[in-house]
Amino acid sequence: MSKLIDGKQISASVKERVRQEVSALRARGVSVGLAVIIVGEDPASKIYVANKKKACEALGILSTEYALPAETTEEELLSLIDRLNRDSGVNGILCQLPLPRHLNEKNILRAIAPEKDVDAFHPQNVGRIMIGDYDFVPCTPAGIMEMLAHEQIEVTGKRCVVIGRSNIVGKPMAMLLLHHNGTVTICHSKTENLREITKTADILVAAVGRAKFVTADMVKEGAVVIDVGMNRVDGKLFGDVDFDAVAPKASAITPVPGGVGPMTIAMLMQNTLTAAKRQAGISGDSL
Ligand code: GUN
Repeated sequence: MSKLIDGKQISASVKERVRQEVSALRARGVSVGLAVIIVGEDPASKIYVANKKKACEALGILSTEYALPAETTEEELLSLIDRLNRDSGVNGILCQLPLPRHLNEKNILRAIAPEKDVDAFHPQNVGRIMIGDYDFVPCTPAGIMEMLAHEQIEVTGKRCVVIGRSNIVGKPMAMLLLHHNGTVTICHSKTENLREITKTADILVAAVGRAKFVTADMVKEGAVVIDVGMNRVDGKLFGDVDFDAVAPKASAITPVPGGVGPMTIAMLMQNTLTAAKRQAGISGDSL
């Protein structure tokens, strides 16, 4: 039987670490603040943003939400970002995606000051991940690396297969696994013979966005299976992995919910703390 990787528990320990550091910083007169921008009424985005705010409050991070109407113009949004970039009380800026269609996502993400870009979506931060010299890692891949480390799952020398090539998860995930000496393959919707590739994976990361996409026949016996999916079907939440069928084959597996999801928020908190420390001229782990 496989080990269930408990994202709730691991995220709680990350958040506790952050809470203690935030408190130590406050004792030195340094506050930690996150600005969260949401444009429009996407129901899933609203829930994510509410959860991010809740986490901030629990850890002593000041969060300010900017909930803008769907018809907000690019100029208006860029002007808000410019103001937040220059506000020394704001250490991190996050603009929830997806944005309404009329807004150019690239322009918006590029406008966020790289040192406040706690999502690590700015091209400068993306480039730094590529060369292995980074302060911020996108929250979901960072959370997955944290889970693997917590479970003492070795990446070095392992065959890692990532299904999905998004800028938010697939690409940075592959890069982090590579930095940890994995042998990495990225698969996507145009990949031929997908099953033949996924079956070679010692570590399989599913970030496809389709409920129960990964079936038991796609998974090698003893593989570690990480499920990034959050698919709502008839009001119920499903991962990208057919959990009941895959779990008996896996040596370890993340559930949905309670797996990768909680880790994403914990890593956002960690990135916000990192941003505040850097801006206060405090480096690394020293406090
Ligand atoms: N939408 C889905 N995931 C994310 C994320 O990690 N950050 C932001 N800003 N938007 C998202």
